[in-house]
Amino acid sequence: MTAAPQPETLAAFEAAKGFMPTGEGLALYAAAAEAGRLGLPLLEVGTYCGRSTLLLADAARAADVTALTVDHHRGSEEQQPGWDYHDPETVDPELGLMDTLPAFRRTLHRAGLEDHVVALVGRSPQVARVWRTPLGLVFVDGGHTDEHATADYEGWAPHVADGGLLVIHDVFPDPADEFTGQAPYRIYLRALASGAFTEVSATDSLRVLRRTGAGS
Ligand SMILES: C[S@@+](CC[C@H](N)C(=O)[O-])C[C@H]1O[C@@H](n2cnc3c(N)ncnc32)[C@H](O)[C@@H]1O
Repeated sequence: MTAAPQPETLAAFEAAKGFMPTGEGLALYAAAAEAGRLGLPLLEVGTYCGRSTLLLADAARAADVTALTVDHHRGSEEQQPGWDYHDPETVDPELGLMDTLPAFRRTLHRAGLEDHVVALVGRSPQVARVWRTPLGLVFVDGGHTDEHATADYEGWAPHVADGGLLVIHDVFPDPADEFTGQAPYRIYLRALASGAFTEVSATDSLRVLRRTGAGS
């Protein structure tokens, strides 16, 4: 039977601000539940307001591991004012800059999942540079430019433990389907070409790969 989040977590996920459809969320949860069996932390790149983090937190709680989530909370390019994915409610009125950290904290607190998550506030490559712990799962859902997606892959894929999972969101093989560019598709191809990762499942734009070899 496929692992599923607690009903109250799923309801919180569906009510939270964010971009992940329910079908992909359930696939992410199933991957996190499986990876949790390794007894290692689960890490997300791209917290935004905590929608997908809720699912990693629920899986982390069930497996008695910790979920980690990395974001500078200033938004990606396509979330800035004037762009299609901008939400004016995410702007700090004092600074006039996006700040999704308060919404993230509210989301997690209301779902009762704060104790299972460590938020790493900073730029993904900078956090990755000081990271030394093997990870059961890395979920890449950060910046969608080639610069950011490549840095996320190079910074975090090496930390996926043997048998651990690399999950990539917004993989669109057909340019006609993509909304924010094909950089996630390119890192997905790179992971497969490395010989270190093997595809486990595809659910809409969510790809789950398992580390089956060394390198990245
Ligand atoms: C697509 S959103 C994440 C959506 C979230 N996973 C969800 O399901 O709702 C991408 C997030 O990545 C963050 N981000 C983009 N580039 C980043 C970088 N280089 N370092 C840290 N965070 C980054 C943005 O601030 C934004 O919150």
